Amino acid sequence: MGLSPRRLLPVSMLWLCYYSCYSSLIEDPHPLYNCIDSATGYDQCAYPAYYGPMEDQHTQFSIIGYEPAILSLDRFDQMDSPEASQTEVSVDDFGAKGDGTDDTKAFEKAWEEACNSSEKAVLVVPENKTYLLKQITFSGPCKSDLSVKITGTIEASSNRSDWDGLNRRHWIEFKDLKNLRVEGGGTINGNGKTWWDNSCKRNKSLPCTGAPTALTFRSCKNLIVKNLRIKDSQQMHLSFERCENVRVSDLIITAPGDSPNTDGIHITSTQKILVMNSVIRTGDDCFSIESGSKKVKVTNITCGPGHGISIGSLGDGNSEAHVSEILVVGANLFETTNGIRIKTWQGGSGNAKNIKFQDIAMHNVTRPIIIDQNYCDSKKPCPEQGSAVKVSSVVYKNIKGTSASEVAVNFNCSKSIPCEGILLEDINLVGTSGSNTTMSCKNVQGLNKGEVYPPSCL
Ligand SMILES: *[C@@H]1O[C@H](CO)[C@@H](O)[C@H](O)[C@H]1NC(C)=O
Ligand SMILES: *[C@@H]1O[C@H](CO)[C@@H](O)[C@H](O)[C@H]1NC(C)=O
Ligand SMILES: *[C@@H]1O[C@H](CO)[C@@H](O)[C@H](O)[C@H]1NC(C)=O
Ligand SMILES: *[C@@H]1O[C@H](CO)[C@@H](O)[C@H](O)[C@H]1NC(C)=O
Ligand SMILES: *[C@@H]1O[C@H](CO)[C@@H](O)[C@H](O)[C@H]1NC(C)=O
Ligand SMILES: *[C@@H]1O[C@H](CO)[C@@H](O)[C@H](O)[C@H]1NC(C)=O
Ligand SMILES: *[C@@H]1O[C@H](CO)[C@@H](O)[C@H](O)[C@H]1NC(C)=O
Ligand SMILES: *[C@@H]1O[C@H](CO)[C@@H](O)[C@H](O)[C@H]1NC(C)=O
Repeated sequence: MGLSPRRLLPVSMLWLCYYSCYSSLIEDPHPLYNCIDSATGYDQCAYPAYYGPMEDQHTQFSIIGYEPAILSLDRFDQMDSPEASQTEVSVDDFGAKGDGTDDTKAFEKAWEEACNSSEKAVLVVPENKTYLLKQITFSGPCKSDLSVKITGTIEASSNRSDWDGLNRRHWIEFKDLKNLRVEGGGTINGNGKTWWDNSCKRNKSLPCTGAPTALTFRSCKNLIVKNLRIKDSQQMHLSFERCENVRVSDLIITAPGDSPNTDGIHITSTQKILVMNSVIRTGDDCFSIESGSKKVKVTNITCGPGHGISIGSLGDGNSEAHVSEILVVGANLFETTNGIRIKTWQGGSGNAKNIKFQDIAMHNVTRPIIIDQNYCDSKKPCPEQGSAVKVSSVVYKNIKGTSASEVAVNFNCSKSIPCEGILLEDINLVGTSGSNTTMSCKNVQGLNKGEVYPPSCL
């Protein structure tokens, strides 16, 4: 059972003082967002608001203090405006056949035309056809705002030799673009089976080499990705790298549960991204939120099968990692191996902080809540090291459902850099067959609020 709110109050005041003193030491000297709430003068950075006196007056969204920024993506309203005149460019006009022959050249020419248009352009991939594409990059900057309307199917070559001499990390890449929409209800099929069969995760005697990400957005600003199906990627399905101001919705991402490394949505060095109303069923992480990501909101998501929602892995190869202002609110996880997980390697530095997981239903999830600061996804064992990515100010609120394993909550933090400011509020995770569950705590400090089951060790 957690502490009652009445008993919690003095404790939380202590925490408040503790945090104000402590966080001034660790606070980023160059904060990228304004900590001071202009209406109240309340300093959100010095006092993680969930321990503060403002809690009851605030909505869930002000808790981490970044929702207003997410909602101010006003540039999208202009992109949505119907009155702008536009040029339509169909890949068929440039010789695309959609009959199983290689259409890469036709797509490249059509892109050149659309990107060079002096008025808003729409690149169309027509319905009822399947276009075969080899590796392709759609580069900006373009003269005008651009839409890509995929109503048909785009399929990858299944011949891995088509990547010989090329960067094997990409199949379709969009880069250096501003004000781009990609939508249309069509399908992007990575045709990944031969890559999976040649993965070292499937066949231990093979060397570990990367495989392409089906769809990558790199260095894009003001981006909408919606209403698409992405399936059977060679490796990750959808990746956002160094993007800003992104709205993602209505995606269906699928791959077999045993396909290796087929993450659903990968977010790295990206700020202000909202992902909503999507279903992700793959063989690896539903989401992986990596270093440099900030102001990320994920809402109304279904995951599973797969490895669940992950922040990290962070700090691999002794790297410095920073992740903050992550809100995951409203998710259903079915039979995933992890639920909501923060994973860091030993030896890294930096921090993962101001993270909130709320309203998440677990359905027979193997490890529903986990912080693992001893993450080690390598063939060699990872030695104990004295540094780690610091994990702090993480809220778990209203997380309910069933756990396939006995340890439903596992905080396995670093001895040298413990986890701090962990809040469990209204947690109920029982065994799938109704059995009792437990919680494990190692080097973690935090608080409980409301009803917390399994019995808390915080
Ligand atoms: C781009 O458009 C301009 C005219 O608007 C034209 O002169 C130029 O050749 C075009 N470039 C390409 C690569 O199509
Ligand atoms: C695509 O297929 C649907 C269903 O068969 C048909 O109704 C529609 O007219 C087709 N569209 C085109 C452009 O051929
Ligand atoms: C795969 O591509 C390579 C070179 O691109 C070609 O030599 C080979 O015949 C192709 N294999 C198949 C099965 O099509
Ligand atoms: C694994 O890879 C080795 C080396 O290429 C190959 O000989 C073997 O047949 C593969 N095993 C399976 C099950 O595909
Ligand atoms: C949640 O997402 C699903 C699609 O995955 C959609 O059908 C549903 O309407 C969404 N719910 C809300 C409240 O937007
Ligand atoms: C729960 O998941 C485990 C595997 O993680 C599976 O063996 C078991 O059958 C599932 N139970 C139910 C009731 O679905
Ligand atoms: C914590 O992590 C270490 C290193 O991976 C592992 O040996 C240990 O079993 C873990 N503890 C728990 C309770 O999971
Ligand atoms: C489950 O927990 C309850 C309450 O702590 C206890 O009475 C019961 O014996 C436990 N059941 C099992 C199977 O351990």
